[in-house]
Amino acid sequence: MVVGCVLGDAFPEGFLWGVATSSFQVEMGTGDVADGSDWWAWVHDAENMRRGWVSGDEPENGPGFWELYKPDFKLARKLGCNSFRLSLDWARLFPVSTEGVAVEVHRDAYGNVEKIRVDDRAIKGLGKLVDKAAVRRYRGILTECRAQGMEPMVTLYHWPIPLWLHDPIATRDGVAPAGKRGWLDEGALVEFAKYCAYAAHVFGDLVDLWGTINEVKIVSDHGFLDGGEFPPGLNDFGAFMTAMRHLSMAHGLAYEQVKRWDRASAGPLGPSSVGIVAVLHYHEPADPSSEADVNATLFNDYLFNEWSLNAVFRGDYDMDADGLVEGDEMLPHLVKGCDWIGVNYYMRRRVMHVAKGGDPRFDYGFASAADPSDIGFDTYPEGLRWVCDWAYSRYRRPIYVTENGIADASDSMRERYLLGHLDAIQRAVELDGVPVRGYFHWSLMDNFEWSSGYRVRFGLCSVDPVTKRRTPKASATVFRRIAEANRLP
Ligand code: BGC
Repeated sequence: MVVGCVLGDAFPEGFLWGVATSSFQVEMGTGDVADGSDWWAWVHDAENMRRGWVSGDEPENGPGFWELYKPDFKLARKLGCNSFRLSLDWARLFPVSTEGVAVEVHRDAYGNVEKIRVDDRAIKGLGKLVDKAAVRRYRGILTECRAQGMEPMVTLYHWPIPLWLHDPIATRDGVAPAGKRGWLDEGALVEFAKYCAYAAHVFGDLVDLWGTINEVKIVSDHGFLDGGEFPPGLNDFGAFMTAMRHLSMAHGLAYEQVKRWDRASAGPLGPSSVGIVAVLHYHEPADPSSEADVNATLFNDYLFNEWSLNAVFRGDYDMDADGLVEGDEMLPHLVKGCDWIGVNYYMRRRVMHVAKGGDPRFDYGFASAADPSDIGFDTYPEGLRWVCDWAYSRYRRPIYVTENGIADASDSMRERYLLGHLDAIQRAVELDGVPVRGYFHWSLMDNFEWSSGYRVRFGLCSVDPVTKRRTPKASATVFRRIAEANRLP
């Protein structure tokens, strides 16, 4: 793709303007389309509700994109989009176990899964297990997306895992057998590689732009360290590091499968351009003159922004998170490639030292937001320029801003948010020379915000819970004007 030079307030030629969604958050809402995933079990669990870990809202009351994708694409197009980010639901495609499909698994000297060979026979075997109606529907969705003039960006893992691979309740309660503990088990890597190979095989003619893992950090942190919000609700540093490790390895395994199985170009980006999607926060010390705050900030930056990208790009698996990569933590042979970096940017975090009496590295907290959204995220547009600069200067890959948006039910902050963040991108491109290739706003419409449910509203459009009618908010007009003109006002 040719990206021209920028002039004044313009974005580069060929810039992708899109909205971002994920399957679990938008698909359900019309018809009977439950997905049989760990997230489904998690948000319906009575004990999780009793503990206040989930809202009690149900994804089956969502926007219903599974049936309403045509009008939704039309709407996105009207808002000036030439691209649309969506995810495939692994659990929907493979509702029954794929563990019986034979593949060759190669291990390195330490026993790590290094390479998985999925051959034609395995693809045939997967073809017998896949839900054919789901394949047909996703093909219909992707075909329509293209027909309406938008480049689909497809995320392979945006969080739901098939229940046969992860029983989140039993894992939460410490009684799940090996093989049912999701990303804690190595088996998840093998099954994930099979699913990615099959997805690339069956959708590759329609998709050129693939994202592997959405946010290693959030899945690991909220699921395994913070205890509560995300399945399986653990509070365990070892489990957290295992999840970080396996998810980072999963990127490389997925990268290889997509490159191997998607040989068809749907457009100029083809046959496949494969990246990882990282959530990057802008961290700064609450008190820059406090050494303890500065150290806590550096640790947050290292563990939450840098760790998994170091694993993906360098093969650094610093399992004790001591900042040193030694011995069996050095795994450069597991580096498989990454064509671009997806940046999900939401907030600044002002980090301060807070003694908690446990592992001193976790002696930190965050100062309250100076410019809070509905859910307290600290709006800080300049941070987006900073994280794009940082990611590019460190890893030298083109960047897509794959998510950026604000929880703002009254739509009173979104216009300012949009203008500030798009200005930050424009300056990263024009002044700092960062190749930012596109911007995807989170999200097209209000949707199922995981454990918080429908109370939290990130959409450019609202959705009537009964009729499912979408209504663009005032901020949607601002987005449209910029996207259509490919320049700031
Ligand atoms: C996730 C989305 C989520 C958004 C807003 C991102 O971390 O990828 O699924 O809805 O944040 O919280």
